[in-house]
Amino acid sequence: MNKVLDTGVNNVRNVSRYIFGQNCLAKLAEILSTHCTGPTGHTVYFVDSYFRENGSLIDRLPIEESDQVVFVSTVDEPTTDLIDTMCAQILSERSTMPRAIVGVGGGITLDTAKAISNLIGNGGRAEDYQGWDLLSKPGVYKVGIPTISGTGAEATRTCVMTNPRTGAKLGMNSDFTVFDQLLLDPDLSATVPRDQYFYTGMDAYIHCFEALRGSHRNVIGDAMSIQALDLCRQVFKSDQMMSDVNRANLMVASYLGGCAIATSYVGVVHPFSAGLSVVLGLHHGIANCIALMALSEFYKEEHDQLHAFADQQEIDVPKDICANLSEDAFENLYKATIVHEKPLTNALGADFHNILTREKVKQIFSRM
Ligand SMILES: [Fe+2]
Repeated sequence: MNKVLDTGVNNVRNVSRYIFGQNCLAKLAEILSTHCTGPTGHTVYFVDSYFRENGSLIDRLPIEESDQVVFVSTVDEPTTDLIDTMCAQILSERSTMPRAIVGVGGGITLDTAKAISNLIGNGGRAEDYQGWDLLSKPGVYKVGIPTISGTGAEATRTCVMTNPRTGAKLGMNSDFTVFDQLLLDPDLSATVPRDQYFYTGMDAYIHCFEALRGSHRNVIGDAMSIQALDLCRQVFKSDQMMSDVNRANLMVASYLGGCAIATSYVGVVHPFSAGLSVVLGLHHGIANCIALMALSEFYKEEHDQLHAFADQQEIDVPKDICANLSEDAFENLYKATIVHEKPLTNALGADFHNILTREKVKQIFSRM
């Protein structure tokens, strides 16, 4: 086995507790009073900015007068600088430390909540903890409440951030990043726009087939990936992909996909997708779909399946996004892709550089 990759299932930390079911959001107040064992203090809510204007979700949260509510913009994925700024602002607004942090939203919002919890608990700057196992203490007790399914952010031990100085899209990979509590309430994804539901849901599908097609596998990860893929297929082959049953199925697929990836690695799609995010600012879900459309030589069956799902659901996967890029942009795309040596080793072996040459990577991006 190549030394770049860990072997075996290495004492995995999963989410401590979760509730799954329609309207389980109503249990939040009870959970905060029962299971949050920290010192008395307030709660900080990180809420996807979509809910500032839309729907009644904000009124259903048990927000008390002393609590803080931060609306998280999902226009761009978080930078380390943004996490630093938000953390400083939260701490400056109160004389006491928060007792709990609650993230309500998609991957960006959940990752922001996890990162801020870690940073409050450990001090310093967000970039100090980009990497593996660099946190020394648990953060603030944190609850994750996903409102869109697919990223697996609710289950993982990382929180993805981009460092504007190094260009690294890298999270705080740590057991301390894992949520203490999840509320998996499928009612909350009912208002997601159809295309976002599709792109983000496909993230779970892509995590799982990349794990299953890699060289670093184990029976636990495989079992979760296989089940999550089956749920994704049921959802995206359905005439009503956003029915109550399918929203519940996709929420479980997302969770299982996140757990599966904790014991395995992704493959070729995610590094190319990361290139699109870092260089062109595309969001993770849509970037994954664009990348997979150009990677049929590595994942023929799954590429064809994405086509079929998108056709059936009448979802448009953008094309020609790299049509008029400069040589510099292609070079940056190459660098931002090839840096992901773990997933690329998992998918292609230790000599992946010989397969994904500079010219080859450019050729693949040119097809997007
Ligand atoms: Fe992903």
